Amino acid sequence: MNELAQNLNRQIQQENLHVYELLSELGKNLYFPKGILTQTAEAKLKAHRFNATIGIATEQNQPMFLPLIQETLTNYDPKDLYPYAPPAGKPELRQLWREKMLNESPSLVKKSFSNPIVTNALTHGLSIVADLFLEENDPLVLPDKLWGNYNLIFGVRRGAKSITFPFYTKEGTFNTAGMKEALLSNQAHGKAVLLLNFPNNPTGYTPNEQEASEIVAALKEVAQQGINLAVVTDDAYFGLFYENSIKESLFARLANIHPRILAIKIDGATKEDYLWGFRVGFITYGSEYPAVLDALEKKTLGIIRGTISSASHPAQTFVLNALKSSDFQTQKQNKFEILKQRACKVKQILDHGEYRDAWDYYPFNSGYFMCIKLKAVKAEALRMHLLEQYGVGVIALGESDVRIAFSCVEEEELKDLFDLIYRGVQDLSGQ
Ligand SMILES: Cc1ncc(COP(=O)(O)O)c(C=O)c1O
Repeated sequence: MNELAQNLNRQIQQENLHVYELLSELGKNLYFPKGILTQTAEAKLKAHRFNATIGIATEQNQPMFLPLIQETLTNYDPKDLYPYAPPAGKPELRQLWREKMLNESPSLVKKSFSNPIVTNALTHGLSIVADLFLEENDPLVLPDKLWGNYNLIFGVRRGAKSITFPFYTKEGTFNTAGMKEALLSNQAHGKAVLLLNFPNNPTGYTPNEQEASEIVAALKEVAQQGINLAVVTDDAYFGLFYENSIKESLFARLANIHPRILAIKIDGATKEDYLWGFRVGFITYGSEYPAVLDALEKKTLGIIRGTISSASHPAQTFVLNALKSSDFQTQKQNKFEILKQRACKVKQILDHGEYRDAWDYYPFNSGYFMCIKLKAVKAEALRMHLLEQYGVGVIALGESDVRIAFSCVEEEELKDLFDLIYRGVQDLSGQ
Protein backbone atom coordinates (compact mmCIF):
# COMPACT_ATOMS: atom_id res chain seq x y z
CA MET A 1 0.00 0.00 0.00
CA ASN A 2 1.23 3.47 -0.85
CA GLU A 3 2.87 5.23 2.08
CA LEU A 4 0.61 8.27 1.74
CA ALA A 5 -2.47 6.01 1.92
CA GLN A 6 -1.01 4.30 4.99
CA ASN A 7 -0.48 7.70 6.62
CA LEU A 8 -4.06 8.76 5.89
CA ASN A 9 -5.35 5.47 7.28
CA ARG A 10 -3.26 5.91 10.42
CA GLN A 11 -4.57 9.46 10.73
CA ILE A 12 -8.16 8.14 10.61
CA GLN A 13 -7.45 5.13 12.86
CA GLN A 14 -5.87 7.26 15.57
CA GLU A 15 -8.85 9.58 15.73
CA ASN A 16 -11.76 7.26 15.03
CA LEU A 17 -11.37 3.56 14.33
CA HIS A 18 -15.02 3.22 13.26
CA VAL A 19 -14.58 5.46 10.25
CA TYR A 20 -11.53 3.42 9.28
CA GLU A 21 -13.57 0.22 9.54
CA LEU A 22 -16.21 1.75 7.27
CA LEU A 23 -13.72 2.16 4.40
CA SER A 24 -13.70 -0.27 1.48
CA GLU A 25 -10.41 -1.81 0.30
CA LEU A 26 -10.35 0.84 -2.41
CA GLY A 27 -11.13 3.47 0.22
CA LYS A 28 -8.18 2.23 2.29
CA ASN A 29 -5.87 2.28 -0.71
CA LEU A 30 -6.75 5.81 -1.75
CA TYR A 31 -4.54 8.85 -1.24
CA PHE A 32 -3.87 12.12 -2.99
CA PRO A 33 -0.56 11.85 -4.83
CA LYS A 34 2.12 14.46 -4.38
CA GLY A 35 2.56 14.88 -8.08
CA ILE A 36 2.20 17.55 -10.67
CA LEU A 37 -0.67 19.26 -8.91
CA THR A 38 1.25 19.78 -5.69
CA GLN A 39 4.17 21.17 -7.63
CA THR A 40 1.86 23.38 -9.62
CA ALA A 41 0.22 24.68 -6.46
CA GLU A 42 3.67 25.54 -5.11
CA ALA A 43 4.60 27.18 -8.41
CA LYS A 44 1.43 29.24 -8.37
CA LEU A 45 2.61 30.78 -5.11
CA LYS A 46 6.26 31.14 -5.95
CA ALA A 47 6.99 31.08 -9.69
CA HIS A 48 6.77 34.83 -10.31
CA ARG A 49 8.82 34.83 -13.48
CA PHE A 50 7.80 31.77 -15.42
CA ASN A 51 5.38 29.14 -14.38
CA ALA A 52 6.05 26.23 -16.67
CA THR A 53 4.40 23.62 -14.52
CA ILE A 54 0.83 23.22 -15.62
CA GLY A 55 -0.49 21.44 -18.68
CA ILE A 56 -2.38 24.29 -20.28
CA ALA A 57 -1.25 26.75 -22.97
CA THR A 58 -0.97 30.48 -22.31
CA GLU A 59 -0.59 33.58 -24.44
CA GLN A 60 -0.11 37.19 -23.31
CA ASN A 61 -0.42 36.20 -19.66
CA GLN A 62 -3.75 34.55 -20.02
CA PRO A 63 -4.96 31.14 -21.04
CA MET A 64 -4.91 30.49 -24.77
CA PHE A 65 -8.39 30.19 -26.27
CA LEU A 66 -10.25 30.02 -29.55
CA PRO A 67 -12.01 33.35 -30.13
CA LEU A 68 -15.13 31.60 -31.46
CA ILE A 69 -15.62 30.08 -28.01
CA GLN A 70 -14.76 33.20 -26.07
CA GLU A 71 -17.17 35.33 -28.14
CA THR A 72 -20.10 33.51 -26.58
CA LEU A 73 -18.69 34.07 -23.11
CA THR A 74 -17.69 37.68 -23.33
CA ASN A 75 -18.90 38.52 -19.86
CA TYR A 76 -16.41 36.17 -18.30
CA ASP A 77 -12.70 36.57 -17.78
CA PRO A 78 -10.82 33.78 -19.62
CA LYS A 79 -9.01 32.91 -16.40
CA ASP A 80 -12.35 31.88 -14.89
CA LEU A 81 -13.18 29.57 -17.77
CA TYR A 82 -10.23 27.96 -19.50
CA PRO A 83 -7.65 26.73 -16.96
CA TYR A 84 -8.16 23.53 -15.00
CA ALA A 85 -10.08 24.04 -11.79
CA PRO A 86 -8.38 22.50 -8.72
CA PRO A 87 -9.49 18.86 -8.14
CA ALA A 88 -11.38 19.96 -5.00
CA GLY A 89 -13.11 22.76 -6.90
CA LYS A 90 -12.76 26.54 -6.95
CA PRO A 91 -11.93 27.61 -3.36
CA GLU A 92 -14.35 30.56 -3.39
CA LEU A 93 -17.18 28.35 -4.63
CA ARG A 94 -16.49 25.81 -1.89
CA GLN A 95 -16.48 28.57 0.71
CA LEU A 96 -19.74 30.09 -0.52
CA TRP A 97 -21.42 26.68 -0.73
CA ARG A 98 -20.35 26.03 2.85
CA GLU A 99 -21.86 29.36 3.94
CA LYS A 100 -25.04 28.53 2.05
CA MET A 101 -25.23 25.18 3.86
CA LEU A 102 -24.85 26.94 7.22
CA ASN A 103 -27.56 29.47 6.36
CA GLU A 104 -29.98 26.84 5.14
CA SER A 105 -29.38 24.18 7.79
CA PRO A 106 -29.02 26.01 11.12
CA SER A 107 -28.32 22.79 13.08
CA LEU A 108 -24.94 22.73 11.32
CA VAL A 109 -23.73 25.83 13.11
CA LYS A 110 -22.24 23.97 16.06
CA LYS A 111 -21.12 20.95 14.05
CA SER A 112 -17.75 20.02 12.64
CA PHE A 113 -17.79 19.24 8.93
CA SER A 114 -15.45 19.40 5.95
CA ASN A 115 -15.45 22.02 3.27
CA PRO A 116 -17.65 20.85 0.42
CA ILE A 117 -15.58 19.24 -2.35
CA VAL A 118 -16.78 19.89 -5.89
CA THR A 119 -18.01 16.86 -7.83
CA ASN A 120 -19.30 16.40 -11.36
CA ALA A 121 -22.82 16.74 -9.90
CA LEU A 122 -24.61 14.37 -7.54
CA THR A 123 -24.23 11.11 -9.43
CA HIS A 124 -20.46 11.54 -9.19
CA GLY A 125 -20.66 12.39 -5.48
CA LEU A 126 -22.67 9.24 -4.85
CA SER A 127 -20.20 7.14 -6.84
CA ILE A 128 -17.36 8.52 -4.69
CA VAL A 129 -19.25 7.30 -1.62
CA ALA A 130 -19.67 3.90 -3.28
CA ASP A 131 -15.94 3.68 -4.02
CA LEU A 132 -14.81 4.83 -0.60
CA PHE A 133 -17.15 2.85 1.59
CA LEU A 134 -18.60 -0.18 -0.19
CA GLU A 135 -17.04 -3.55 -0.75
CA GLU A 136 -18.73 -6.39 -2.62
CA ASN A 137 -21.69 -7.61 -0.50
CA ASP A 138 -21.51 -4.73 1.96
CA PRO A 139 -25.06 -3.71 2.89
CA LEU A 140 -26.56 -0.59 1.37
CA VAL A 141 -29.75 0.14 3.32
CA LEU A 142 -32.35 2.40 1.73
CA PRO A 143 -36.12 2.92 1.49
CA ASP A 144 -37.99 1.09 -1.27
CA LYS A 145 -39.03 4.33 -3.00
CA LEU A 146 -35.79 5.30 -4.66
CA TRP A 147 -33.97 6.80 -7.61
CA GLY A 148 -33.29 3.91 -10.00
CA ASN A 149 -29.71 4.91 -10.76
CA TYR A 150 -28.62 3.91 -7.24
CA ASN A 151 -28.59 0.38 -8.60
CA LEU A 152 -25.86 1.17 -11.13
CA ILE A 153 -23.87 3.41 -8.82
CA PHE A 154 -23.81 1.11 -5.80
CA GLY A 155 -24.94 -2.31 -7.04
CA VAL A 156 -23.52 -2.82 -10.50
CA ARG A 157 -20.31 -0.82 -10.03
CA ARG A 158 -19.44 -1.86 -6.50
CA GLY A 159 -21.47 -5.03 -5.83
CA ALA A 160 -23.22 -3.59 -2.77
CA LYS A 161 -26.00 -5.72 -1.32
CA SER A 162 -29.06 -3.55 -1.39
CA ILE A 163 -31.45 -3.95 1.54
CA THR A 164 -34.68 -2.00 1.20
CA PHE A 165 -37.39 -1.27 3.72
CA PRO A 166 -40.89 0.13 3.06
CA PHE A 167 -40.65 3.94 2.78
CA TYR A 168 -43.98 4.67 4.49
CA THR A 169 -45.75 3.31 7.56
CA LYS A 170 -49.43 2.37 7.22
CA GLU A 171 -50.24 5.86 8.47
CA GLY A 172 -48.23 7.43 5.64
CA THR A 173 -45.33 8.67 7.74
CA PHE A 174 -41.65 7.83 7.22
CA ASN A 175 -40.96 4.27 8.35
CA THR A 176 -38.22 4.77 10.91
CA ALA A 177 -38.90 1.44 12.58
CA GLY A 178 -38.43 -0.34 9.22
CA MET A 179 -35.17 1.53 8.67
CA LYS A 180 -33.86 0.52 12.08
CA GLU A 181 -34.89 -3.08 11.59
CA ALA A 182 -33.15 -3.24 8.19
CA LEU A 183 -29.96 -1.84 9.72
CA LEU A 184 -30.05 -4.21 12.68
CA SER A 185 -30.69 -7.18 10.39
CA ASN A 186 -27.04 -6.71 9.39
CA GLN A 187 -25.61 -6.35 12.84
CA ALA A 188 -23.22 -9.28 12.30
CA HIS A 189 -21.64 -7.50 9.32
CA GLY A 190 -20.60 -4.64 11.60
CA LYS A 191 -21.05 -1.85 9.06
CA ALA A 192 -23.61 -0.45 6.67
CA VAL A 193 -24.14 2.48 4.34
CA LEU A 194 -27.56 4.09 4.81
CA LEU A 195 -28.86 6.22 1.95
CA LEU A 196 -31.63 8.75 2.60
CA ASN A 197 -33.02 11.09 -0.04
CA PHE A 198 -35.31 13.97 0.96
CA PRO A 199 -37.13 15.58 -0.80
CA ASN A 200 -37.54 12.09 -2.13
CA ASN A 201 -37.46 10.96 -5.71
CA PRO A 202 -40.00 9.56 -6.61
CA THR A 203 -42.49 10.32 -3.81
CA GLY A 204 -41.82 14.00 -3.09
CA TYR A 205 -41.82 13.32 0.66
CA THR A 206 -39.70 14.88 3.41
CA PRO A 207 -40.13 13.94 7.11
CA ASN A 208 -41.59 16.41 9.59
CA GLU A 209 -39.91 17.48 12.86
CA GLN A 210 -41.09 14.49 14.83
CA GLU A 211 -40.14 11.98 12.16
CA ALA A 212 -36.72 13.59 11.74
CA SER A 213 -36.08 13.37 15.51
CA GLU A 214 -37.11 9.73 15.43
CA ILE A 215 -34.70 9.01 12.57
CA VAL A 216 -31.82 10.63 14.45
CA ALA A 217 -32.65 8.77 17.67
CA ALA A 218 -33.00 5.44 15.83
CA LEU A 219 -29.62 5.83 14.13
CA LYS A 220 -27.98 6.67 17.42
CA GLU A 221 -29.43 3.47 18.88
CA VAL A 222 -28.15 1.43 15.94
CA ALA A 223 -24.68 2.92 16.41
CA GLN A 224 -24.83 2.19 20.14
CA GLN A 225 -25.32 -1.47 19.24
CA GLY A 226 -21.90 -1.49 17.62
CA ILE A 227 -22.69 -0.96 13.93
CA ASN A 228 -20.55 1.51 12.00
CA LEU A 229 -22.75 3.65 9.79
CA ALA A 230 -22.00 5.87 6.83
CA VAL A 231 -25.24 7.85 6.54
CA VAL A 232 -25.53 9.52 3.17
CA THR A 233 -28.08 12.25 2.57
CA ASP A 234 -28.84 12.69 -1.12
CA ASP A 235 -30.05 16.30 -1.03
CA ALA A 236 -30.59 16.63 -4.78
CA TYR A 237 -33.89 18.51 -4.37
CA PHE A 238 -32.84 20.45 -1.29
CA GLY A 239 -34.78 23.60 -0.45
CA LEU A 240 -38.01 22.67 -2.23
CA PHE A 241 -39.98 22.20 1.01
CA TYR A 242 -43.60 23.31 0.55
CA GLU A 243 -45.34 22.25 3.76
CA ASN A 244 -44.63 21.27 7.35
CA SER A 245 -41.57 19.08 6.74
CA ILE A 246 -38.18 19.89 8.20
CA LYS A 247 -36.56 22.55 6.09
CA GLU A 248 -32.96 21.68 6.68
CA SER A 249 -30.81 18.76 5.66
CA LEU A 250 -30.83 15.67 7.86
CA PHE A 251 -27.05 15.83 7.45
CA ALA A 252 -27.08 18.80 9.84
CA ARG A 253 -28.82 16.71 12.49
CA LEU A 254 -26.75 13.57 11.95
CA ALA A 255 -23.26 15.06 11.84
CA ASN A 256 -21.26 14.50 15.04
CA ILE A 257 -24.01 12.58 16.89
CA HIS A 258 -22.00 9.40 17.48
CA PRO A 259 -18.41 8.29 16.82
CA ARG A 260 -19.72 5.30 14.83
CA ILE A 261 -21.79 7.54 12.51
CA LEU A 262 -20.12 9.25 9.59
CA ALA A 263 -22.57 11.70 7.97
CA ILE A 264 -22.04 12.46 4.29
CA LYS A 265 -23.94 15.13 2.39
CA ILE A 266 -24.32 14.88 -1.37
CA ASP A 267 -25.83 17.97 -2.94
CA GLY A 268 -25.37 20.42 -5.77
CA ALA A 269 -26.68 23.03 -8.11
CA THR A 270 -28.23 20.50 -10.53
CA LYS A 271 -31.82 20.46 -9.32
CA GLU A 272 -31.98 23.13 -6.65
CA ASP A 273 -30.58 25.85 -8.91
CA TYR A 274 -32.05 24.47 -12.15
CA LEU A 275 -28.63 23.88 -13.68
CA TRP A 276 -29.01 20.24 -14.67
CA GLY A 277 -26.54 20.11 -17.53
CA PHE A 278 -23.88 22.17 -15.77
CA ARG A 279 -22.78 19.23 -13.60
CA VAL A 280 -21.77 20.98 -10.39
CA GLY A 281 -22.25 19.09 -7.14
CA PHE A 282 -20.57 18.70 -3.76
CA ILE A 283 -19.59 16.04 -1.26
CA THR A 284 -19.26 17.08 2.39
CA TYR A 285 -18.25 14.96 5.38
CA GLY A 286 -19.51 15.50 8.93
CA SER A 287 -17.17 14.27 11.67
CA GLU A 288 -15.97 15.82 14.89
CA TYR A 289 -12.44 14.63 14.24
CA PRO A 290 -10.55 17.20 12.12
CA ALA A 291 -7.84 14.71 11.16
CA VAL A 292 -10.54 12.33 9.83
CA LEU A 293 -12.07 15.13 7.77
CA ASP A 294 -8.66 16.03 6.41
CA ALA A 295 -7.85 12.42 5.45
CA LEU A 296 -11.26 11.79 3.88
CA GLU A 297 -10.92 14.98 1.87
CA LYS A 298 -7.54 13.80 0.54
CA LYS A 299 -8.90 10.34 -0.30
CA THR A 300 -11.77 12.00 -2.14
CA LEU A 301 -9.29 14.11 -4.06
CA GLY A 302 -7.45 10.90 -4.91
CA ILE A 303 -10.62 9.48 -6.48
CA ILE A 304 -11.35 12.70 -8.33
CA ARG A 305 -7.79 12.91 -9.64
CA GLY A 306 -7.97 9.26 -10.68
CA THR A 307 -11.32 9.48 -12.46
CA ILE A 308 -12.36 12.90 -13.80
CA SER A 309 -9.20 14.74 -12.66
CA SER A 310 -11.23 17.89 -11.98
CA ALA A 311 -14.76 19.14 -12.61
CA SER A 312 -15.68 21.65 -15.30
CA HIS A 313 -14.23 25.09 -14.58
CA PRO A 314 -16.79 27.18 -16.56
CA ALA A 315 -19.70 25.46 -14.82
CA GLN A 316 -18.15 26.23 -11.41
CA THR A 317 -17.66 29.85 -12.43
CA PHE A 318 -21.30 30.15 -13.52
CA VAL A 319 -22.53 28.71 -10.21
CA LEU A 320 -20.13 30.92 -8.25
CA ASN A 321 -21.39 34.00 -10.08
CA ALA A 322 -24.97 33.02 -9.34
CA LEU A 323 -24.22 32.55 -5.64
CA LYS A 324 -22.58 35.97 -5.50
CA SER A 325 -25.37 37.76 -7.31
CA SER A 326 -27.74 39.96 -5.30
CA ASP A 327 -30.60 38.60 -7.43
CA PHE A 328 -29.90 34.98 -6.57
CA GLN A 329 -32.26 34.65 -3.60
CA THR A 330 -35.09 36.57 -5.27
CA GLN A 331 -34.91 34.58 -8.48
CA LYS A 332 -34.72 31.29 -6.61
CA GLN A 333 -37.68 32.25 -4.44
CA ASN A 334 -39.62 33.06 -7.56
CA LYS A 335 -39.05 29.57 -9.02
CA PHE A 336 -39.76 28.02 -5.62
CA GLU A 337 -43.18 29.71 -5.52
CA ILE A 338 -44.03 28.38 -8.98
CA LEU A 339 -43.20 24.80 -7.99
CA LYS A 340 -44.94 25.16 -4.63
CA GLN A 341 -48.13 26.38 -6.29
CA ARG A 342 -48.05 23.43 -8.65
CA ALA A 343 -47.64 21.02 -5.71
CA CYS A 344 -50.57 22.68 -3.90
CA LYS A 345 -52.65 22.54 -7.05
CA VAL A 346 -51.96 18.82 -7.49
CA LYS A 347 -53.11 18.20 -3.93
CA GLN A 348 -56.21 20.29 -4.47
CA ILE A 349 -57.08 18.38 -7.64
CA LEU A 350 -56.49 14.98 -6.03
CA ASP A 351 -58.28 15.82 -2.78
CA HIS A 352 -61.39 16.65 -4.76
CA GLY A 353 -62.01 12.91 -4.86
CA GLU A 354 -62.89 12.44 -8.55
CA TYR A 355 -60.23 9.80 -9.06
CA ARG A 356 -60.66 7.85 -5.85
CA ASP A 357 -61.72 4.63 -7.59
CA ALA A 358 -58.60 4.70 -9.79
CA TRP A 359 -55.74 5.47 -7.38
CA ASP A 360 -54.54 6.71 -4.02
CA TYR A 361 -51.65 9.08 -3.75
CA TYR A 362 -48.61 8.80 -1.51
CA PRO A 363 -48.10 11.66 0.96
CA PHE A 364 -45.91 14.39 -0.56
CA ASN A 365 -44.78 17.83 0.57
CA SER A 366 -41.60 18.73 -1.37
CA GLY A 367 -39.41 18.37 -4.45
CA TYR A 368 -40.24 17.86 -8.14
CA PHE A 369 -42.49 14.77 -8.03
CA MET A 370 -45.43 12.93 -6.54
CA CYS A 371 -46.56 9.34 -6.92
CA ILE A 372 -49.93 7.65 -7.30
CA LYS A 373 -50.70 4.03 -6.46
CA LEU A 374 -53.01 2.47 -9.02
CA LYS A 375 -55.86 0.29 -7.78
CA ALA A 376 -56.97 -1.73 -10.79
CA VAL A 377 -54.54 -1.39 -13.69
CA LYS A 378 -50.85 -2.03 -14.11
CA ALA A 379 -48.49 0.95 -14.11
CA GLU A 380 -46.54 -0.05 -17.23
CA ALA A 381 -49.72 -0.77 -19.22
CA LEU A 382 -51.10 2.62 -18.23
CA ARG A 383 -47.86 4.36 -19.12
CA MET A 384 -47.82 2.86 -22.62
CA HIS A 385 -51.51 3.57 -23.13
CA LEU A 386 -51.18 7.19 -22.03
CA LEU A 387 -48.25 7.67 -24.36
CA GLU A 388 -49.88 6.09 -27.39
CA GLN A 389 -53.45 7.26 -26.90
CA TYR A 390 -53.05 10.68 -25.32
CA GLY A 391 -49.44 11.69 -25.80
CA VAL A 392 -48.98 11.84 -22.03
CA GLY A 393 -45.67 10.76 -20.54
CA VAL A 394 -45.39 9.51 -16.97
CA ILE A 395 -42.99 7.13 -15.23
CA ALA A 396 -44.15 3.63 -14.28
CA LEU A 397 -42.47 2.27 -11.15
CA GLY A 398 -43.01 -1.38 -10.28
CA GLU A 399 -46.48 -2.93 -10.53
CA SER A 400 -48.69 -0.09 -9.51
CA ASP A 401 -46.83 3.18 -8.87
CA VAL A 402 -46.76 6.06 -11.32
CA ARG A 403 -44.48 9.06 -10.83
CA ILE A 404 -45.71 12.41 -12.02
CA ALA A 405 -43.26 15.30 -12.34
CA PHE A 406 -45.28 18.43 -11.60
CA SER A 407 -41.98 20.23 -12.09
CA CYS A 408 -42.63 19.87 -15.83
CA VAL A 409 -46.32 20.81 -16.07
CA GLU A 410 -47.78 24.32 -15.85
CA GLU A 411 -50.20 24.86 -12.98
CA GLU A 412 -53.15 25.54 -15.28
CA GLU A 413 -52.52 22.28 -17.16
CA LEU A 414 -52.39 19.99 -14.16
CA LYS A 415 -56.13 19.30 -14.09
CA ASP A 416 -56.07 18.22 -17.75
CA LEU A 417 -53.08 15.99 -17.04
CA PHE A 418 -54.80 14.15 -14.20
CA ASP A 419 -58.06 13.94 -16.17
CA LEU A 420 -56.18 12.24 -19.00
CA ILE A 421 -54.42 9.84 -16.64
CA TYR A 422 -57.84 9.02 -15.17
CA ARG A 423 -59.32 8.51 -18.62
CA GLY A 424 -56.42 6.17 -19.41
CA VAL A 425 -57.20 4.11 -16.30
CA GLN A 426 -60.88 3.95 -17.30
CA ASP A 427 -59.97 2.81 -20.83
CA LEU A 428 -57.85 -0.01 -19.48
CA SER A 429 -60.22 -1.12 -16.77
CA GLY A 430 -63.14 -1.12 -19.22
CA GLN A 431 -65.26 1.32 -17.24
C1 LIG B 1 -32.50 11.54 -5.95
C2 LIG B 1 -31.50 11.92 -6.98
N1 LIG B 1 -30.20 11.95 -6.66
C3 LIG B 1 -29.26 12.28 -7.56
C4 LIG B 1 -29.60 12.60 -8.86
C5 LIG B 1 -28.50 12.90 -9.84
O1 LIG B 1 -28.28 14.24 -9.98
P1 LIG B 1 -27.13 14.83 -10.92
O2 LIG B 1 -27.78 15.17 -12.21
O3 LIG B 1 -26.67 16.03 -10.17
O4 LIG B 1 -26.07 13.82 -11.08
C6 LIG B 1 -30.94 12.57 -9.25
C7 LIG B 1 -31.30 12.86 -10.66
O5 LIG B 1 -32.38 12.62 -11.13
C8 LIG B 1 -31.92 12.23 -8.28
O6 LIG B 1 -33.22 12.21 -8.59
